[in-house]
Amino acid sequence: MEAKQMTDVRVTKLLEKMTLDEKIDQLMQLAAFFYDGASSDGEITGPMEDLGISKQTIHNSGSVLGGSGAKEVISIQKEHLKTNRLGIPLLIMADIIHGFKTIFPVPLAIGSSWDVRLAEKSAEIAALEASVAGVHVTFAPMVDLVRDPRWGRVMETTGEDPFLNGEFAKAFVRGFQGENVTNDTNRVAACVKHFAAYGAPEGGRDYNTVNMSERDLRENYLPAYKAALDAGAQMVMTAFNTVDGIPASGNEKLMRELLRDEWGFDGVVISDWGAIKEMIPHGIAADESEAAKKGLKAGVDIEMMTSTYVKNLQTLVEQGGISEELINESVRRILQLKEKLGLFENPYRGANEQLEEELVFSEEHRQIACELATKSSVLLKNKHVLPLDREQKVALIGPFAHNGDVLGPWSWAGSRENAVKVDEGIKTKIDPVNLIVAQGCDIDTGTEEQVAKAVQAASTADVIVLALGERSEMSGEAGCRADIRLPQVQLDLIKEMKKLTKPIAIVLFNGRPLDLHGVLDQADAVLEAWYPGSEAGTAIADLLYGDVNPSGKLPMSFPYSVGQVPVYYNHYNTGRPDINKSPAERYVSKYLDIPNEPLLPFGFGLSYTTFQYSDTKISSDTLTSDSEITISTHITNTGNVAGEEVVQLYVRDMVGEVVRPIKELKGYEKVHLNPGEKKEVTFILTEEQLRYFHADLSFTSDPGKFTVFVGPNSVDGAELTFELIN
Ligand code: BGC
Repeated sequence: MEAKQMTDVRVTKLLEKMTLDEKIDQLMQLAAFFYDGASSDGEITGPMEDLGISKQTIHNSGSVLGGSGAKEVISIQKEHLKTNRLGIPLLIMADIIHGFKTIFPVPLAIGSSWDVRLAEKSAEIAALEASVAGVHVTFAPMVDLVRDPRWGRVMETTGEDPFLNGEFAKAFVRGFQGENVTNDTNRVAACVKHFAAYGAPEGGRDYNTVNMSERDLRENYLPAYKAALDAGAQMVMTAFNTVDGIPASGNEKLMRELLRDEWGFDGVVISDWGAIKEMIPHGIAADESEAAKKGLKAGVDIEMMTSTYVKNLQTLVEQGGISEELINESVRRILQLKEKLGLFENPYRGANEQLEEELVFSEEHRQIACELATKSSVLLKNKHVLPLDREQKVALIGPFAHNGDVLGPWSWAGSRENAVKVDEGIKTKIDPVNLIVAQGCDIDTGTEEQVAKAVQAASTADVIVLALGERSEMSGEAGCRADIRLPQVQLDLIKEMKKLTKPIAIVLFNGRPLDLHGVLDQADAVLEAWYPGSEAGTAIADLLYGDVNPSGKLPMSFPYSVGQVPVYYNHYNTGRPDINKSPAERYVSKYLDIPNEPLLPFGFGLSYTTFQYSDTKISSDTLTSDSEITISTHITNTGNVAGEEVVQLYVRDMVGEVVRPIKELKGYEKVHLNPGEKKEVTFILTEEQLRYFHADLSFTSDPGKFTVFVGPNSVDGAELTFELIN
């Protein structure tokens, strides 16, 4: 018998044996501490009573959120199998977002690397570490496109571009799941989230309303989820927000018609934490019963952390509000996933205390984390300060000079203590007598005494390195900010340092594009390090001393001011574009007080070397639906050190049926060049890449003129044209 048929037979047989109660309980997911065998002891009666559920419901339940390590997970599963009548194992799910114990840079930083190979590797390592610790499914990748840096969860995304996000979505899924997650117990199933458009809350405020046209949704926001599913992601998590007025978790059009019917997804859908019950405050369900009905009808199989399903579905079936078949469908999908992951044969799967001890946070894993951290940092400015000279006396000042808060949000299993701090990294590069460290201030408070100490330290140095940024809780879930500048106390510290008239290099640790006024203009060099992860200090020191040349490019625009937000490179031209930039011209689309352009554009990033683009060519000035066009450029390293450059290809459809963005990223290549070396980079364009969603939602291209841009970022570069002939 074929493997698939055998799976179906076992699942069908189990379904036949299950009572309605047992089926419904499979649809519930609770945190690990609810379960017998969990290491957190103490009475859980309170939370159980809050949820209105019994111990029996927990014994029947289908999956667990969390579990800290192989020992706990094995013990939970063991106890569960003793009490579950049919011996159906639990699925163990957890948020392994950018590493398990070895913490990689946050996803926004990984996006800055434009290096999908390393991104995949980071997910593979995360999967290995998590799987030996007993995890079966990770709630990742998070692929929500975002254009608003006020939203705290920007650090969890790879930025503002649908194409780049799609490339990373695929890489993460490949890394988590490998070739075949079924056979590979060192991988975990991926759950792409948050479906859909969670990254576009109004005002950048978490959980807030999302409002956009279906065309915008399909063109910009959906492609990355689709890419993750095409790469084989096994699960989907719903979003907290509304999509066209209906919360995603109860949105039949989105979850059933689009995801299941149109895209053909037949895997498990899980709600986000409490999102089914949240249909009540959203105002589309009068009570828990109605919320449960809407969630299940929309095709949400598992309810995370609330109990509307387990408390209401039985009655809903009895009263004809929903059919038992709908429940069977969801249970079947959950059991199929358990079967796929081999849990019926081996309910502990990869969990292995000894391997966990050996593999997790290994030297090898940390080295990859370090490599990715160096590739993820973006050099934003450099006026002959970096790289530092090993003989220089350095004053390392600031709240991140010696700080373990460099892992970033969603690193619950990582250890801040074990993270390499910036001063520790620098100490490995220079004679420690040449390093003076002073905090200068805390993240958002400070004293005169702290400043005085910093001034004293800095006055004896040749160069000042300021390590500044946001506390990790200032971004991440519910970490939204309306003022996206550095806290005032840090801006004041920069001013104090500036008075010393010494060269200043600033290294930034933060979870979002910031308004960098008072930073970029004051410093001689700025390195955007984001949250680099466990190897932060080593990576930063490698970059500061030029052992690695920065090569990151921004995956999100840095606004000139928060008043511009949302500001993104692939915007429309408007009917009155501000072409002349003349203060005398009033009735054009512009601000009176600030430029339209962001402070730093998408795709921007400097290097310690310089690159020259030349001889950019297009193979033909016409393209047809059955031909292709080659665009080529030559790039030369014109500086003195080896470096990497991300060559970017953008296209503009000059006249469409629907207005087209002024530029759209269609390809990129990261090339390594030794000093003086020249390489040719080529891109192929076909008609398929020029298609977009028209007014009737058909996905086609428009004949006519196109402009192609090839260059180092979304603003600069050579322009060529061609015509599409259909
Ligand atoms: C987040 C999800 C996460 C879930 C489980 C929610 O609050 O929005 O991204 O996967 O919690 O931890």
